[in-house]
Amino acid sequence: MANEAKKPAQEVGKFQAIISHCKEYGFIFPSSEIYDGLQAVYDYGQMGSELKKNIKDYWWKSMTQLHDNIVGIDAAIFMHPTTWKASGHVDNFNDPMIDNKDSKKRYRVDHLIEGHAELLKADGKEKEAEELLAAMDALLAKDDFAGLKQLIEDNKMVCAISGTCNWTDIRQFNLMFSTEFGSTEASEIPPAGGGGANKVYLRPETAQGIFVNFLNVQKTGRMKVPFGIAQIGKAFRNEIVARQFIFRMREFEQMEMQFFIRPGTQKEWYEFWKAERLKWHRSLGIPAEKYRYHDHIKLAHYADAACDIEFDFPMGFKELEGIHSRTDFDLRSHQEYSKKKQQYFDNDIDPATGKPYGNYIPFVIETSIGLDRMFLAVLSQAYEEQDLSTPERPDSRVVLKLPASLAPIKLAVLPLTKKDGLPEVAERIMSDCRPHFRCFYEEKDSIGKRYRRMDALGTPFCVTVDHQTLQDDTVTIRYRDTMEQERIPIEKIKELVMNAIG
Ligand code: GAP
Repeated sequence: MANEAKKPAQEVGKFQAIISHCKEYGFIFPSSEIYDGLQAVYDYGQMGSELKKNIKDYWWKSMTQLHDNIVGIDAAIFMHPTTWKASGHVDNFNDPMIDNKDSKKRYRVDHLIEGHAELLKADGKEKEAEELLAAMDALLAKDDFAGLKQLIEDNKMVCAISGTCNWTDIRQFNLMFSTEFGSTEASEIPPAGGGGANKVYLRPETAQGIFVNFLNVQKTGRMKVPFGIAQIGKAFRNEIVARQFIFRMREFEQMEMQFFIRPGTQKEWYEFWKAERLKWHRSLGIPAEKYRYHDHIKLAHYADAACDIEFDFPMGFKELEGIHSRTDFDLRSHQEYSKKKQQYFDNDIDPATGKPYGNYIPFVIETSIGLDRMFLAVLSQAYEEQDLSTPERPDSRVVLKLPASLAPIKLAVLPLTKKDGLPEVAERIMSDCRPHFRCFYEEKDSIGKRYRRMDALGTPFCVTVDHQTLQDDTVTIRYRDTMEQERIPIEKIKELVMNAIG
């Protein structure tokens, strides 16, 4: 990647170190690795799946349990094919791409131009870079592909592989994966509602599963506008330029919430959710300077306002979450295609008329965060390489300073030796704590090595059972971030950990 090469070596090095760490400690493996992996597809290992689940739970609780007017659903990945016609994804879910004729390498046009802008910035040409990006935004907003190609040629942007400026015209590529539904013999039977074939799509966003269930949930849950429906689930996109580890994947997970509101109130609710979502990120203790908003100039086909919450990843500020004011585009379009009314009757009194607001198609504010990107944000924020050398001996550690609530393991219970009844006491502590939070027992290796392993997994607390424990029922508790140790009574362990994980 041309622009990555210009990132400070330290940051690029950190990103590589995080990727290696994920593999070494069971967080993330390349998918089907024994067959050399599958590009932009990853598996979460024993530690990664715990961390990912904790992030999901943190989001789910904050959205559903802490908001009385938001409920959750779990819709199927496969949806009726007409869904994607109505949502606009069949016609509009495209990326403009350009190929280099010499290397045959394909680029997303915006990535190619942004990469060139990064190079300009690295050369101190900030103003030129900003002008280039502004020109790109203006041309993208008009879908002016000839103008974009001209911009690429005028700026002499070259392919990172061939080094040439020999480009094809710009073309659109649809990002949805499709497959066949049912047996091939049955292919003469068209699916209900038309479409003509058995072609179904793997959903490129979870949002549509919410829209098509809007009335089911509203009616059965007796929900009153404003209300929200939240969902966590897999989404699939045939990303052309899939790179940067779990940042851009072909199979990923989204945590989305559609908030249904009265038409005309979208501006205030958009601002509300923009602020609310940033607050959620900050509640994890990540510093404010790691986040920024990026307001969209080119809006998606469904939006009247949109912004990203960007995070300062090791490869720079990039989109982590989107907040979109989706108007009534989706519900209106589903109403049209399904011929089923997607309306809500609002019996609140409109002060302007003194009468009920009546029937309308609600407007929607969407919050949409990639779970895998959140995982990467949390992990890259937590990852620290520390030099602990003293004049007497060199030493270092890698520590994941994960928020205790997200850490895969909350407490490690470590008997100092395998004998003298210490494992039995440790097992008693395990039995007491196991039902409440995830604990880990280990008696192999020196205590120093065991602490280091727990640091690398992000375990916030280790307790060591030693010979003094047999006399006074106390243990040494070691705090991951400060490495400080103190003695506490066994009976205090559970409470201390539970207070920390919230
Ligand atoms: N429903 C709206 C929607 O899907 P989006 O901006 O295309 O909007 C929302 O995606 C979020 O999903 C992004 O902010 C990002 O965190 C995540 N995301 C999108 N494409 C992704 C990919 N290829 N790999 C990982 N995460 C992705």
